[in-house]
Amino acid sequence: LGGNGSNAVTPRFQPGQIAPLQRSETASEIQVVYQHRFTLVDDAETSYQPVCQEKRVVTQKLVPKVGVMLVGLTGNNGSTFVAGILANKHKVSWETRTGTKSPNFFGSFSQSATARVGFKRDEKTGAFSDVHKPISEILPMARPVDFVMGGWDMSGVNMYQACKRAQVLEPTLLDQLKPELERIIPLPAALNPDFIAGNQTDRVDNVLSGTDRELIEQLRSDIRAMKTLVDKVVVLWTANTEKCLKPEIETVEDLQERIREGKALPASVLYCVAAIEEQVLFINGSPQNTFHPAVIEYARQHGSLLAGSDFKSGQTRFKTVMGDFLIGSGIRISACASYNHLGNNDGRNLQDPMCFDSKKNSKSGVLNDAIRSNAILYPEGKDHIDHEVVIKYVPAVGDSKRALDEYTSDIFMNGRNTISSYNVCEDSLLAAPIMIDLVVLGELLSRIKVDGNSLGPLLSYLSFFLKAPDTNQPNYVVNSFTRQRQILTSLLMVAAGIIPDDGTLLFAHF
Ligand code: NAI
Repeated sequence: LGGNGSNAVTPRFQPGQIAPLQRSETASEIQVVYQHRFTLVDDAETSYQPVCQEKRVVTQKLVPKVGVMLVGLTGNNGSTFVAGILANKHKVSWETRTGTKSPNFFGSFSQSATARVGFKRDEKTGAFSDVHKPISEILPMARPVDFVMGGWDMSGVNMYQACKRAQVLEPTLLDQLKPELERIIPLPAALNPDFIAGNQTDRVDNVLSGTDRELIEQLRSDIRAMKTLVDKVVVLWTANTEKCLKPEIETVEDLQERIREGKALPASVLYCVAAIEEQVLFINGSPQNTFHPAVIEYARQHGSLLAGSDFKSGQTRFKTVMGDFLIGSGIRISACASYNHLGNNDGRNLQDPMCFDSKKNSKSGVLNDAIRSNAILYPEGKDHIDHEVVIKYVPAVGDSKRALDEYTSDIFMNGRNTISSYNVCEDSLLAAPIMIDLVVLGELLSRIKVDGNSLGPLLSYLSFFLKAPDTNQPNYVVNSFTRQRQILTSLLMVAAGIIPDDGTLLFAHF
């Protein structure tokens, strides 16, 4: 926007002015040349150099038919994801004791959130107002109701039985979807029971046997079968949290040797390797360290994409909002004590101390960037807080997780401020929309190239949906809710040819 000195706005650029963004479009592509502006600060942090880099962002417009393969298809998240999408697809309404309900996609950023794309000016009054657009309208994106859904589970029950077992959705809804749900049967799973809790054995009745290489080949053949039905496949791990494999696998040679020699890799690594070799996006929704350095390098070599780790649904998302609020206001969080109890199979699995450790690590790092952002509150030597995470298994509450958090902060003149939150929510109803976002936006990001390069191997832009984001710059991880949302939204806007606002509102004031 070019200001002309009054409160009017001249939308076109005057001769001599440089358009910070140029957009063109063909039948197959949206092409954008964008001036990316940021500041470089010197080592002493005293001088600020403005930088402007020209970036060419190209988005393929054709939306493919997407096949989603869930690992953990008949778990609570998997069954809620599938039944929720089918209910939306068929627009099924159902009776409850509080009235008739109809399906929605609330909780999904891609389906139910909007972004502020610019300003509008009332010609008569001269007043400005914001213009918001649904995220799903910014760029061509897949619709969840068009997904072809399938996948694997070590428990062979059909999808109707799985939904009943999960106790998340109402029977009056499930009964209407019963014939379609009953037809969805999980493929036999690749399983290494050493990496999940011993209490899971009573669930196991649908597993493959063979060496690691044979298991990978079978998983690849399953992915290829899905490829015959759709244009693009996405594999999403929503199976049990595994124990972390330590030490990490560093080199591709070591990874390949372990596969050759059948050194019993965790199942998540086998699925991930199969997805990499089939060049399909693999998303890790659990906290274990599936993305070893060797696995990331293997993905790079195959031109494949990865995203992870651990869905950021309730408590952790709230924590990053509290970090923005408190530390962003100049208040020093000194302690954060998080307690959960839940009674679903995830809670049961997390009773194993090693599986719990994976979750604890993933949950514990989320305030790190907020702490590092403020050396006034957190000078060197005091740049840590007391952060505790406890998870207990209480079968009676089922999928309805309880999360109690206490934030203790230091305020003016050494006063103390304590905020407690108590959240009760069906865990899977929070996770399923995030799974939808990861598939819809992961697929979209796989169609975007910047200066001719893909955004991989790690799709860092999906950090908004993940507790412990794996990024292409491992030393640069953003956890802040506000920033993660802004980074993703800004990328989508730039790719669509809309300049993200610099936030100064100068044009409106002068
Ligand atoms: P769940 O225990 O109900 O489902 C997991 C499913 O994976 C089970 O059906 C199990 O039989 C299956 N499975 C285990 N190992 C397998 C393998 N090797 N191959 C194929 N299937 C396998 O758990 P839920 O609640 O669905 O959660 C799934 C994952 O998502 C967990 O790791 C959980 O920590 C993670 N998560 C969940 C969040 C939520 O809000 N629900 C938030 C963040 C992460």
